[in-house]
Amino acid sequence: MLVGVPKEIKDHESRVGLVPSSVAELIRRGHVALIQRGAGEGAGLSDGDFRAAGGTLVDGSERIFGESELIVKVKEPLAAERELLRRGQVLFTYLHLAPDLDQTKDLIAGGATCIAYETVTSPSGGLPLLTPMSEVAGRLAPQVGANCLENSQGGRGVLLGGVPGVPPADVIILGGGVSGTHAAAIAIGMGANVTVVDRSADVLRRVSAQFGSRVRTIFSTRDALAEIVRRADLLIGAVLLPGAAAPKLITREMVKSMKPGAVIVDIAIDQGGCSETSRPTTHSHPTYVDEGVVHYCVTNMPGAVARTSTFALNNVTLPFTLMLADKGWKQALRDDVYLRCGLNVHEGRIYCGPVAEAHRLPLADMKELLS
Ligand SMILES: NC(=O)c1ccc[n+]([C@@H]2O[C@H](COP(=O)([O-])OP(=O)(O)OC[C@H]3O[C@@H](n4cnc5c(N)ncnc54)[C@H](O)[C@@H]3O)[C@@H](O)[C@H]2O)c1
Repeated sequence: MLVGVPKEIKDHESRVGLVPSSVAELIRRGHVALIQRGAGEGAGLSDGDFRAAGGTLVDGSERIFGESELIVKVKEPLAAERELLRRGQVLFTYLHLAPDLDQTKDLIAGGATCIAYETVTSPSGGLPLLTPMSEVAGRLAPQVGANCLENSQGGRGVLLGGVPGVPPADVIILGGGVSGTHAAAIAIGMGANVTVVDRSADVLRRVSAQFGSRVRTIFSTRDALAEIVRRADLLIGAVLLPGAAAPKLITREMVKSMKPGAVIVDIAIDQGGCSETSRPTTHSHPTYVDEGVVHYCVTNMPGAVARTSTFALNNVTLPFTLMLADKGWKQALRDDVYLRCGLNVHEGRIYCGPVAEAHRLPLADMKELLS
């Protein structure tokens, strides 16, 4: 199969869909890999590395989109890329369609088979292709939050860990899943007062067992949130309803009640964000102030540490990429019930329940498609 890897064009996105060792694996199995020149530069992977692995280097993305049967990317295709996608082609990447009607409409109109990393599931119901990037974003969140709390960034001038005689910052983490747990680990390490809020008692039990008395856990209710959000120096949004738009747990009124110069890092912004005041930002312009609170809502946080993120992503995507290339998308989806959950759009129809629901569009029948 002809597998193509374009250079990412989202703002400051330096990750790349395949690393050279993944390319070598494809070549060993008889596939051909077209790599856009410079695609791996930001992750410290040179054209020479890809060539040595057996990849064919091409200029620009037109040939990649024009000729590839399977396109392996990192972030959702932007409008210019969506125009190049076509029927009969498979796109394997993050899509985050539930909060993005424009992209959904374009992918429906384009006709390509679009398989989203973030809805591929594991036997335990986890999201194996989202997990490593949630780990990265979670670990980055206290770091960027600490920076936003500095006066020069519009923050309230609080040091996350405090100093002897001056208390540390209050860090509230909404969601104790993958990104929330990793955010807690780093915030605790930086010496902050950390509270994790979740609606699952089992999640709170796990967080409590993992961190002991170094973290407070609170069951998520509207009243509890209203009370705790007011106290936060740094609020980290890390909730997820798989495939669906993030629940707006933080109302504008709650944000108004926060201390001036407090910070919200909304990791969940890629699914629309969990605060009514959140809107997507970029690495070039990562923050804005609303209701006196600094908001950091970058949709591709792991792109800031592209090398770590690229390798972490390839570790989990490679088995699925190989399956798609070896068997073709239809047989791969028939054979693997977990990869099947990744199919979001095919030939103009939606196959992911939460995406169909978010946009009030009909859900097509997967069984019929694969029979
Ligand atoms: N911005 C970025 O660059 C970036 C990078 C990676 C991941 N993400 C996003 O981060 C978000 C979190 O991902 P994750 O892998 O940590 O998810 P996860 O499924 O591991 O954890 C989500 C947690 O949210 C909890 N939750 C759901 N509804 C809740 C509610 N009403 N109140 C309290 N808790 C609630 C769940 O119980 C779960 O524990 C996702 O939207 C993901 O796409 C963003």
